[in-house]
Parts: sequence; structure tokens; C-alpha cells
Amino acid sequence: MDTTILRNRFRKQFGTSGDLYFSPGRINLIGEHTDYNGGFVFPGAVDKGITVEIYRNGTRQVKLLAVDVEKDPYLEFSLDDTQKPDIHWACYIFGVCKELEKRGVKVGGFNAAFSGDVPKGAGMSSSAALESAFAFALNTMFADGRVDKFELAKIGQATEHNYCGVKCGIMDQFASVFGREGCLIRLDCRSLEYEYFPFDPDGYKLVLIDTCVKHSLGTEYNERRASCEKAVALMNEQFGRVDTLRDANHQMLDAVKNDLTDDDYRRAKYVLDEKDRVLAVCDALEKGDYELVGQKMYETHWGLSHDYTVSCPEADFLVETAQECGVTGSRIMGGGFGGCTINLVRETLYDKFISKATREYSRKFGVIPKVYDVTIGDGSRKLQ
Ligand code: GLA
Repeated sequence: MDTTILRNRFRKQFGTSGDLYFSPGRINLIGEHTDYNGGFVFPGAVDKGITVEIYRNGTRQVKLLAVDVEKDPYLEFSLDDTQKPDIHWACYIFGVCKELEKRGVKVGGFNAAFSGDVPKGAGMSSSAALESAFAFALNTMFADGRVDKFELAKIGQATEHNYCGVKCGIMDQFASVFGREGCLIRLDCRSLEYEYFPFDPDGYKLVLIDTCVKHSLGTEYNERRASCEKAVALMNEQFGRVDTLRDANHQMLDAVKNDLTDDDYRRAKYVLDEKDRVLAVCDALEKGDYELVGQKMYETHWGLSHDYTVSCPEADFLVETAQECGVTGSRIMGGGFGGCTINLVRETLYDKFISKATREYSRKFGVIPKVYDVTIGDGSRKLQ
């Protein structure tokens, strides 16, 4: 990302310059809504993210400039404030400060400006990029990097839970902090064990198509999580030792079916199906069987659309178009309700697919969808 505008705005606002830190957004190949169910996910960091310029100001005051925000881009809060700020973007930074303090870090006042190139509301987790960028910077500045990377990811997640109203899992913050160039990461969200998988499928590309339907996660996301927790509670009562859907199987779920609403049942069923799909994709990747990977991506999409009900007509249309074009795999990515589809497409088909998808989508919805080629990049870091 070119940091010239950020640096100029920082200098204009604060009269000096600071250090630069960067954290990326993420993609996820497969394993959607499995993270808060103790399952596996398969994300990677992207080369787009949030850059923060920052320096200590020696007070208890935090002075923030959101370079990309038009309305109310400047805000201050005190580290002694107990109420979160009224402005949504500032809650992420307030939350990160508070969560670091809870873990014993003596955060001091600072001046910061930030700017990003990860599209907001596109399902690429710009919010995790923001949290991770600040968590990483403040940990470096005020704790000499003492807080480990797992804890930094958990700080971002706790910020979402406690200050932003989203009961998310750990995937986005984990991918943002732990990302590695050219690699996807298989993460077991129960044990937090992870493994890097070099991902450079010969003859294929990963491409995102943005429906431009902006989503922000909140009530509907939390409702999905609550459905899973209801199913878990019933199975735990009946069978014992069911802490998350990771501990359950289809027979157990069917045994409590009559005590669940149809929505809750289908959501829990989707998660159990997805759990199996992620493992099948791991095997397929090891064998280089990208056609099978793609088939599982389609299955995930229809599960997300019909059972988990987090898709939208625009994403369904893009996935159908991909299928018609013979694209290897396609599905809605991230929390859902809009954002991007992720597509695994043979290089020889790429141009034909992109032009058909953009043309037909524009004709149907009156909006030209954005296309982002995926480059898998490194995680949180200080820039030189
Ligand atoms: C959002 C959340 C993640 C995860 C995905 C769905 O991105 O932040 O924790 O649950 O949705 O897989």
C-alpha cells in the first residue's frame, strides 16, 4: 500500500511523523462458521490491509485520525474513560486498549492515523485488520512485544465481543496476525493448533468477486451462533461431553431434532456437514486434487445459502454463474449477508468467467461487481 497520503495527513494533523505498522485482511478457502463451533478453518492473509502511523504522546489521551473516513474522521478519548466512544470505528481501538490493559499492559497515550485498502463490508475482515494493527503496534510500543501472537488475536476477538457487539470466532484475527506469504493456514479452532499449507495451485487462480452488497455483522450473525449453542446444550444434556458442535455428529443431532426449531436444526446440520468438508479439502489439497476442493466449495455455498441462510440473491447469482461457466469452485466467503464470493478458477477460463460474471451481474443488479485477484501475504508487522 502506498503510504504517502497517510504520512502527509499524519504530519499535517500532528506536526511530526511516527512508526508504521500493518495488518492484513483475510480470505478463507473453506470452513465457514466453524470457528466458533470449535471446528477447522482454512484462511490466509491477503496483501491488502490497514496501515497505522503512530507515536506515543506522553499523556493519557488517545488522538485518532481515520484517514479514509469522510464524516468525523478525528476523535480523542482518554485511557481513563470507561464508556466506549460514540463513533463505531473508534470502538475497535478503544476495545484493543482496554483488552491489552486487562492483560497487564500499561498502555500510554498515543497519536495515530490509519488508512487501508481492504474493502469494508466485503467479507475480507477489515475490522480484524484494524484491531490487529493496533494490537500489534501497542504491544510493540508499550510491552516490548511481550504479548504473544495468540493473545493478540484473542484481543481482537474480545474487542468484537465486548465493544462491537459481534460474537465472532477467532479466524479473522488469527489469520491477520499469523498470515504468511503464499500460505493458507489450517487452524483447529478448538486446540488452536495450526499448520501452514503452501498454496500455489498450478494452473488455477483464486479470485474474489464483490457483490457490493455491504454487510456488517451483528444480530443475524449472533443468532446463527445462538442456534448452534442451543443444539449443543440439548445434545450435551442427552449425551454429555458436548461443548461445541465439534463434539457432535449427525446421529446425535437427529436425536434432539424434535426439540429444536427447523432453523436451529438446519444451522447445526450445516456446521456438521462443513466440519467434514474441511477435512476432505485438507486431503484433497495434499493430493493436489483441486477439482475436489472446488466441488466442496460449491457444497459449502449451498449449505450457507439454504441451511445456514447467510447468503443473498446477489451471491447466489454469482455462484450460479460460476457453475454455468465451469469454474472449479465458488462460494460466498466470510460471515455472509453480502460481501464477496471466492472462486477457484482455471487460468484458461479466467477471462471468460470474469467478463461473463461482470456483464451478467451488472445487467441483473445494475452494479458492476468488483474483482480482486487474491495474493496471499504476510501477517501483522512493523513496516520499515
Ligand atoms: C466472520 C467472523 C469469523 C467467522 C466468519 C464465518 O468473519 O468474524 O469469526 O465466524 O464470519 O466463518
